[in-house]
Amino acid sequence: MDESTAELMETIKLVTGISLTEEKTYLLESRLSDIMSDYNLTDFKELSAKFKKGLDEEFKEKVIDRITTHETRFFRDESIFGAILERIIPEIMERKQGKIPSIRIWSAACSSGQEPYSIAIAIHERYPHLFGNIRILATDIAKETIEKAKSGIYSAFEVGRGLSEMHLSKYFNQIATGIYQVTDEIRSVIEFQQHNLISDPYPSNFDLILCRNVSYYFDLQERKNLFNKIEKALNQDSFLILGSAESITEYSRNFIIREFGLCRFYELNPSNFTLFIKGA
Ligand SMILES: C[S@@+](CC[C@H](N)C(=O)[O-])C[C@H]1O[C@@H](n2cnc3c(N)ncnc32)[C@H](O)[C@@H]1O
Repeated sequence: MDESTAELMETIKLVTGISLTEEKTYLLESRLSDIMSDYNLTDFKELSAKFKKGLDEEFKEKVIDRITTHETRFFRDESIFGAILERIIPEIMERKQGKIPSIRIWSAACSSGQEPYSIAIAIHERYPHLFGNIRILATDIAKETIEKAKSGIYSAFEVGRGLSEMHLSKYFNQIATGIYQVTDEIRSVIEFQQHNLISDPYPSNFDLILCRNVSYYFDLQERKNLFNKIEKALNQDSFLILGSAESITEYSRNFIIREFGLCRFYELNPSNFTLFIKGA
């Protein structure tokens, strides 16, 4: 790997936490080539220097948007929705008895919003009486991506990935040919914000955090920092869902591993031991 590529990778890691390896050099080239020509930059060294200077905010946002992978879809990994509806929400409600039953959920690294909208739709379907008590914070590092999420506007291709006909007709309005927008009611319980999991302060007091399919882009130290901060952002009796290829057990012993069907999720267990409760 040449020096300028290595320098660019180091800069990207510093800002986003994303660790790229030599095999991913082609990815940088394909994703950044049009930005380089738009800004008259001859090589990665120049791009890296401009990015580091940070004087051009729009340029910086464009690079971040381009180098991050935004793959997502509605109801991704369906089993987690069973766990949320049949285990997590009932347990949160039980623990909050006697208190104002507001349920705070954080969809961290939510990409273009399919994840938080899927959670809101699932809860509306199953617990319509609780829907008004749900507050979802949905965040992502990438500006354009979080703006798209906030708009709630999706193409026919995007709604075709994971949404049933029933969900589409009940929770979306067709605003043009092949263009759909999430209804105001569903949008009203979600707040979208740009947030960098590496460098921004974390919000807190969540009953459930979903942080799926992002930690595997980070190196061990950044993953450790991430899980440490997520743990602090959770309420005492609360839950965490990671992507199916991710795990917190190497980094913290403060969670009980739970399972519901094919979904593995974590319950914050401040008493410092790791328990495995199958199917509980
Ligand atoms: C593969 S998507 C996962 C989306 C969704 N959570 C899911 O599982 O379908 C990963 C997302 O992580 C975001 N991301 C990467 N680094 C981040 C960081 N440092 N802070 C916040 N979000 C980040 C990317 O912008 C991208 O949208």
